[in-house]
Amino acid sequence: MDPKEVKSELVLILDYGSQYTHLITRRIRSLSVFSLCISGTSSLSAITALNPSVVILSGGPHSVHTPDSPSFPDGFLDWAQSNGVVVLGICYGLQLLVQRLGGEVRVGHTQEYGRMEIHVDKPSDLFGNDKVGSKQVVWMSHGDEAAVLPPGFQVVARSQQGAVAAIENPSRKFYGLQYHPEVTHAPEGMETLKRFLFDVCKVAAEWKMEDVMEEEIKVIKETVGPDEHVICALSGGVDSTVAATLVHKAIGDRLHCVFVDNGLLRYKERERVMGTFEKDLHLPVVCVDAVDQFLSKLKGVTDPEMKRKIIGKEFICIFDAFAHELEQKLGKKPSYLVQGTLYPDVIESCPPPGSGRTHSHTIKSHHNVGGLPKDMKLKLIEPLKLLFKDEVRQLGKILNVPEGFLKRHPFPGPGLAVRVLGDVTEGDALEILRQVDEIFIQSIKDAGLYDEIWQAFAVFLPIRSVGVQGDQRTHSHVVALRAVTSQDGMTADWYYFEHKFLDDVARKICNGVRGVNRVVQDITSKPPSTIEWE
Ligand code: XMP
Repeated sequence: MDPKEVKSELVLILDYGSQYTHLITRRIRSLSVFSLCISGTSSLSAITALNPSVVILSGGPHSVHTPDSPSFPDGFLDWAQSNGVVVLGICYGLQLLVQRLGGEVRVGHTQEYGRMEIHVDKPSDLFGNDKVGSKQVVWMSHGDEAAVLPPGFQVVARSQQGAVAAIENPSRKFYGLQYHPEVTHAPEGMETLKRFLFDVCKVAAEWKMEDVMEEEIKVIKETVGPDEHVICALSGGVDSTVAATLVHKAIGDRLHCVFVDNGLLRYKERERVMGTFEKDLHLPVVCVDAVDQFLSKLKGVTDPEMKRKIIGKEFICIFDAFAHELEQKLGKKPSYLVQGTLYPDVIESCPPPGSGRTHSHTIKSHHNVGGLPKDMKLKLIEPLKLLFKDEVRQLGKILNVPEGFLKRHPFPGPGLAVRVLGDVTEGDALEILRQVDEIFIQSIKDAGLYDEIWQAFAVFLPIRSVGVQGDQRTHSHVVALRAVTSQDGMTADWYYFEHKFLDDVARKICNGVRGVNRVVQDITSKPPSTIEWE
């Protein structure tokens, strides 16, 4: 999606590194207003090219007194004023406004962190007239404070300690909040944001997923030439499926998808996802049976990083072969590759100025198995790169991707290879794991718990324990069950099942799956563990 193509008004966030910056973007989008976040040190031309109606200067961990502290470009405030663009500084953003306009920012007498009460002092644009004299609880996080305001500004709210909490210059349409209205600990923050957007800035709530879809399709149609072809590797996950469906709507069967059965899929997964691709979504997709190719390469491998490397390499070989076959068939090379990159991936790989990080996606890089060989020189189409996960789900819904499919738990690229500890090819490990996992997941669905759990799965342990089944002593496998709640997978807590539920599942597994005589549950959070076991 090209931000310049978006029809609705834009609220642009200039990011100075606050941990809450992306929350502001999300909150604004949840009010049906399009919002984007770019680096706080972007050039004036980069800012004006996006033609925003409102610019929000985010918070950040810096002090305006540090010599190389990040700031907006020269000429920005004049440009804003002469184009009727409203500017709101939040926390560090407020201090930047004050300092750049000739006011004074000092190290505060009392640093303010966390929950705090503020008083609204006078009638104002930010709070209206009816809030004068009222108190509200907000979320503060600052050391410096605005000591002398620039000409034309007035203080409209103060903290308990008397520090500046909100300022405004209504004639220039410059505003500042010393606290974070976007965090949920600030109960009235959302109301203030709404008032700011709709009453002060007068933006219209017009950002709709239907429009996003139309805009995306238009951009894809304009990008891909009339006889160019596009390829896409479907993983069976939500992102690649929604991305492919969108591209398919734009260019029809010049899209060519491939789904790889690597032998590491879940119970009946190949049939299930291919059914959705073909019957529900009518996607042009080839299923490559590469079970033997993957499993023979994984034979005897127990090191998890080694497994990931081998799997990544095999995926590339298969995509390569797929692209070459296509080239033979079409008589020309495909030009584009569709990827389901999401906004958080984009944000994560462009760290905010002054953060000292060059890129922050090292943690996730091992999660992105596959990709295509560099020498194929394919250009990328990333139609979801400005969307958050729940927005992708909304888009998927409009595109008629079945609801059940959109709500699927995430599944790792290396599949069951990171859920069978040790050699995945040994004995019936994969088959046992598939059956156990299916019983567990089906029980979760039957109990109506699937949607409140972020990810659930079974793990095959490479040990045996003694048991007694019938009159026989057994020496069989142990499986572990893992279910977590999480926002984004970066941190997670284990899910509290009722004992009765666990009891039923354990019985079903031991009675239904040959070779298992013991079921245990993983009760660790992330950190200290991770979600997967390997
Ligand atoms: P961890 O175990 O890192 O998992 O807490 C976080 C999320 O990432 C998934 N995951 C992977 N996904 N390749 C992937 O494609 C991997 O190697 C991998 N390891 C973990 C995991 O399922 C969870 O959603």
